[in-house]
Amino acid sequence: MYNIKKIKEDLYWVGANDRRISLFESVYPVPTGVSYNSYLLMDEKTVLLDTVDKSVTHQFMENVEHVLNGKCLDYLVINHMEPDHCAEIPTIVRNYPNVKIVCNAKIKTLIEQFFDFNLPDEQYVIVKEGDTLNTGKHTLTFVFAPMVHWPEVMVTYDTTDKILFSADAFGTFGAIDGNIFADEVDFDHRYMDEARRYYTNIVGKYGPQVQALLKKASGIEIEMICPLHGFVWRKDLNKFIDKYVKWSTYTPEIQSVLIAYASVYGGTQNAAEILAGKLAELGVKDIEMFDVSVTHPSYVVSEAFKYSHIVFASTTYNNGIFVNMENLLHDVVAHNLQNRKIALIENGSWACVSGKLMTELVSQLKNTEIIENKVTLKSALNKNQAKELENLAKAIVDNMEK
Ligand code: FEO
Repeated sequence: MYNIKKIKEDLYWVGANDRRISLFESVYPVPTGVSYNSYLLMDEKTVLLDTVDKSVTHQFMENVEHVLNGKCLDYLVINHMEPDHCAEIPTIVRNYPNVKIVCNAKIKTLIEQFFDFNLPDEQYVIVKEGDTLNTGKHTLTFVFAPMVHWPEVMVTYDTTDKILFSADAFGTFGAIDGNIFADEVDFDHRYMDEARRYYTNIVGKYGPQVQALLKKASGIEIEMICPLHGFVWRKDLNKFIDKYVKWSTYTPEIQSVLIAYASVYGGTQNAAEILAGKLAELGVKDIEMFDVSVTHPSYVVSEAFKYSHIVFASTTYNNGIFVNMENLLHDVVAHNLQNRKIALIENGSWACVSGKLMTELVSQLKNTEIIENKVTLKSALNKNQAKELENLAKAIVDNMEK
C-alpha cells in the first residue's frame, strides 16, 4: 500500500523509512532508523527527484506509481549518486523506459559505473551549473555542490515554489515518524543531536565545500528545503542554516568540556571522573563524558564538533594508544575537526607512550591548541596527583571564553 506525503500543491514525498538497518553506510549506528527521501513533482511534465536505497524498493515504487496515477514519468533528476539514493535508477528506467535522466556529466559517468545498462545519449539531459529545466509551471535550476557529499553532487532549486532540493545537506539520521515537516516535531530535543551526528560524520570533513553551498544558497530566496534524509524544512530555516554555518566553520556551539576516555581497569576512568568533578566545581556546565570503548565513535565525533574543549584520556596498550581511543582520534582527524582546545591524560604501568602518540595525532588538527598540564598516571592516580588534576582543570577553565 502506498505511503506518500503531500509537500506542496503538486509536490509529493514518495520516499520510505528503514528502521531495520543497524549500520548506515556500514559504519554509523542508526537506532531510530533512517529515511530515504524522494520527491515527485506533478507538473505538465512529471519529475522524480532522486530515488531511494534498495532496502525500500517496494514501498518506493508503490508510492511513485500511485502519485503518477497512470501518467508517464518524463524526467528523473539525479542529484547524488550514492546508492542510498540512486539504487532504484534501474527499476525506474525499467518501469518508465522513456524517462529522461537529468544529471551532470560526473553523475552520468557514475551511473555507467554502478549499473550494467547503457542508455542512449538522447535519454540523458546533461546539465551544467546554472542550467534550467522548464516543466510547465515550474522551472528547475541546477546548482553544483561538489563534496557535499561526493564530487558529483548537485542540488536542484525550484524557482517557482522557491524549494531547494538539497541532496544530503540538511538531512538527519532517524526515520520519519509520520510528520514530514521539521516544524511538526520537537526537532531541537528529538533530532538536533542526530542531525549533528549525521552532518559531522557524513560531511564534517568538507566544511569549505559546505560553506560554498551555503554561499550559493544565500543568494537565492528559499522557502522550503527538501533533503534526501529526514525532515522537510518550511519554517525557521535560518535556525538550521545557522547550525550548518557553525558546523562547517568548525565553530564550537558551547564553551564547555567533552571528556573521552579509554580505560581498561578503571585507573584512567577514575582520573577522568575526578577531573570532571573539579571542572564542575569551577563552574563548568554541561560537561559530557564518554567511555570510548562503549560509545560508538560517531557520537563522540559529533559532540567534539559541539564542544570548545576536549580532554582525551587513554591508557597505553600494546605500546600504543588504547585501540578504541586510537580509532576515535583517527576519526576525529579524518573529519577535519578544527579550532579546538585539547587536554590530555595518559596512563601506562611500565611504558607510558599514549600521551606522546595522542599529541602526534591531535597536532594534525588545524587551529587547535594543546593545553599544557598533561597528567601522567602510572597505573592509577596516586594521592599526590590530585593537585595535578586540579591544575589541569584550572588551566582548562582559564582557557575558556568568558
Ligand atoms: Fe545519503 Fe551521500 O548519501
